[in-house]
Amino acid sequence: MASESKDEAVVVVDFGSQYSRLIARRVRECRVYCEIVPHDAPWERVASLNPRGIILSGGPASVYDVGAPLAPAWVFESRLPVLGICYGLQVLAHQLGGKVVPGSRREYGHTVLHQNATRSPLFADLPSSMTVWMSHGDQVMEMPPGFRSLAHTDNSPIAVMGNDEGILGLQFHPEVVHTPQGKKIIENFLYHICHCRGTWTPSNFVEDSVGRIREQVRDGKVICALSGGVDSAVAAALIHRAVGEQLTCIFVNNGLLRRGEAQEVIDTFERNLKMKLVYVDATERFLTRLGGVVDPEKKRRAIGEEFIRVFEEEAARLGRVDFLAQGTLYPDVIESVSAEGNASAVIKSHHNVGGLPKNMTFSLIEPLRYLFKDEVREVGLALGLPEEMVYRQPFPGPGLAIRIIGEVTRERLEVLRACDWIVMDEIKAANLYRELWQSFAVLTDTRSVGVMGDFRTYGYLVAVRAVTSEDAMTADWARLPYEVLAKISNRIVNEVPQVNRVVYDITSKPPGTIEWE
Ligand code: XMP
Repeated sequence: MASESKDEAVVVVDFGSQYSRLIARRVRECRVYCEIVPHDAPWERVASLNPRGIILSGGPASVYDVGAPLAPAWVFESRLPVLGICYGLQVLAHQLGGKVVPGSRREYGHTVLHQNATRSPLFADLPSSMTVWMSHGDQVMEMPPGFRSLAHTDNSPIAVMGNDEGILGLQFHPEVVHTPQGKKIIENFLYHICHCRGTWTPSNFVEDSVGRIREQVRDGKVICALSGGVDSAVAAALIHRAVGEQLTCIFVNNGLLRRGEAQEVIDTFERNLKMKLVYVDATERFLTRLGGVVDPEKKRRAIGEEFIRVFEEEAARLGRVDFLAQGTLYPDVIESVSAEGNASAVIKSHHNVGGLPKNMTFSLIEPLRYLFKDEVREVGLALGLPEEMVYRQPFPGPGLAIRIIGEVTRERLEVLRACDWIVMDEIKAANLYRELWQSFAVLTDTRSVGVMGDFRTYGYLVAVRAVTSEDAMTADWARLPYEVLAKISNRIVNEVPQVNRVVYDITSKPPGTIEWE
């Protein structure tokens, strides 16, 4: 994985914690570029980033276990400031000559942290006591030579330690929202100890990327598949800014989009952004292919294969193509690296709808490869994309097909579109759209009896799903106000004649997934 070179950066050394990416996000939120590297990464890879500091992540191991991952020598030889978090603190204590022991009991949850008399720049502008989030079994019993305790809790006399060379360790997790002042602590480390200035901004990113894309593409031709989602839109807009007419976007309408969506994409890209756009209405092909398909995986496969076929046909019509642009994001990169044996455990295999054409003769351009979703949105705004597009909730590649239980037919698609429209309308009216990761309707294959006026009805059961999430790896069902749920339910039953019952899905992920199929 080639890394980006920035004028200032920090590396997060991953010891297998699910929190590593959260640490990276927090660092980026402080406007400092940051990348996650495995704990056994060679110095050459890290050096190319030109780092100003190192953060050691948490991890599930105990430092005294045989084979426990340790910090590579470059962490200490580089003489850079280091912040160890939880397991990272224990690694520092263990490797620099202190002593780590199993705690008398596991400490998990909120704790009050008290600063000691020696004030550290790590706590600049922070109160002498604050709430922090702990999750550890082991504990530092003896600090290495040259270190002193900077803060304690009732259970941990050494909850924070540091030396004069800018090597610091925290027993708690500053990256989680349960540590309210955690981001300030990270910011203090970056600004007061690593002396970063905060140069990682959307407009700097755009400027940098445009230069890099021009260098890579030269006079080549680029194609980009638009899905209607924010990632491919921002990737296309960025490449368009760099190479203009050399980019052609291909937008395949698979007939599984939401109401009005295809037209919106065409309007945004062709009319407003003046991009070369090939629009293919392949509804007929997709629906024919989906006839009689009920199994969720078969549906996904059918849609993916059909997409590749249509895409390849259209690309072939364009003649010479040198590059294929994709809106791959950093979480996908981290996940695929994990799959190759990085420390972080793989939680889900990710769905890259359509995948890539098999015999690709072009090279990939992935200008968003190092961005998190919220950064992609900021970059989108910096590029002048409309807010409705930038803040659009994620929508799966297989579209409404995986929100229709059972066979996908035209009639069912229309029913679902009508319900989905109402959900969206009411969520937007209640000003909840941006707070929610996703909100949508699912058409089940269950029918139930109801009464409408004096008549018996026997109609579809529709489920409403709304979740909050940071990155879709986990999600919580949204506590929508009853009034909003009531309005959605009333409107669906009144306005969509085929539906006579609405339920709300209160399953979190895990154990549920966000989509039903
Ligand atoms: P699940 O259902 O696995 O979904 O919790 C996690 C996130 O991924 C989206 N999703 C997809 N996105 N192609 C996509 O581009 C797919 O095949 C696909 N399946 C699920 C889903 O909407 C959610 O945001």
